Amino acid sequence: MTDKPLLRALKRQTVERPPFWFMRQAGRYMPEYRAVRADAGGFLDLCFNVDKAVEVTKQPLRAFGMDAAILFSDILVVPLGLGQKVWFEEGEGPRLEPIASVDDLEAYDPTALKQRLSPVFEVVSRLSKELAEEFEQTALIGFAGAPWTVATYMVEGRSSRNYENVKQWAYGDPASFGRLIDRLVESTIDYLSAQIEAGAEVVQLFDSWAGALDEAGQERWSFAPMAEIAQSLKQRYPHVPVIAFARQVGCNTLKLAKMGCFDALSLDHTVSLAFARDQLQPHVCLQGNLDPLMVVTGGDAMVRAADEIRQAWCDGPFIFNLSHGLIPPTPVAHVDELSRRLRQV
Ligand code: CP3
Repeated sequence: MTDKPLLRALKRQTVERPPFWFMRQAGRYMPEYRAVRADAGGFLDLCFNVDKAVEVTKQPLRAFGMDAAILFSDILVVPLGLGQKVWFEEGEGPRLEPIASVDDLEAYDPTALKQRLSPVFEVVSRLSKELAEEFEQTALIGFAGAPWTVATYMVEGRSSRNYENVKQWAYGDPASFGRLIDRLVESTIDYLSAQIEAGAEVVQLFDSWAGALDEAGQERWSFAPMAEIAQSLKQRYPHVPVIAFARQVGCNTLKLAKMGCFDALSLDHTVSLAFARDQLQPHVCLQGNLDPLMVVTGGDAMVRAADEIRQAWCDGPFIFNLSHGLIPPTPVAHVDELSRRLRQV
């Protein structure tokens, strides 16, 4: 049996057509998701309810036939697993009881993480079995936040505009900030290893806020920790591809591509198509990079932008995706039209 198309692309093998999936493909733009979410209680209750999390992971596959399922969870379950208080304010977003020093972290017991997050691994294991029955060409992606992005939430206590506290800590006291990052590197390796053991075939690291750092900061707090995680996973699981998503780091993406430990880079829409094709694709599989607002817009603008990406990148290893997650106002009909087009050879 040949590999699933997504796995083939990640191994730089030829595919009949570029595989596709969308970041945040499960979510509030889908009425089926909103129905399950309404019954689940809070967002985190949904993440930890095994039946419901499995169900919402599969909803977009049934509706649009993506080539990958991404585990339904959130990057903030890792701070939760470490013992930090995490909750979601309805209609607003995540809240955490912020940490101000490594001492705050020392109070947490890192060995409890796997136990606290055991429902997540059960979701992965159930999906691994159920995809084999219902969607046999669909690959299962596990994920985690990259240490820097997770640290921004742990220190700021919420989504942030200026990253005042976390950047002053990282720039002003790199030695102690490094201890936080090291702790997150270890926990993320444990967390992703458990997802792989449960059946994840690929893992993606989300560094959504890498672009908030300066160049030296990106190398030290975004790229190096992600590489450490990828290298450690590669030693244990050499056949599991690792995708890195360092958002808005511009041409510094080239440094990531040359690190040699990532199989693919997920690119945002500010990255030039020609630059990615000429400079990055010789090193890694490209994933991206349609602006999710194009999918909100729909019509000719969406189709043209998607075709341009496909034309630019289809001669090398390539997975079609967005530059960031689908947002709630996205019309289902637009996701449907885009998916139909992407399924054509
Ligand atoms: O379909 C998928 O892509 C898988 C599920 C997934 C979610 N979050 C579900 C979710 C993934 C991969 C994430 C990652 C995530 N979470 C990131 C990195 C990627 C990115 O978007 O930059 C970040 C930064 C978070 C943190 C987070 N989670 C925020 C800031 C918010 C609030 C904003 C919002 O959209 O409400 C969330 C909540 C969240 N995560 C939702 C979903 C479906 C919405 C929750 C709801 O249903 O109310």
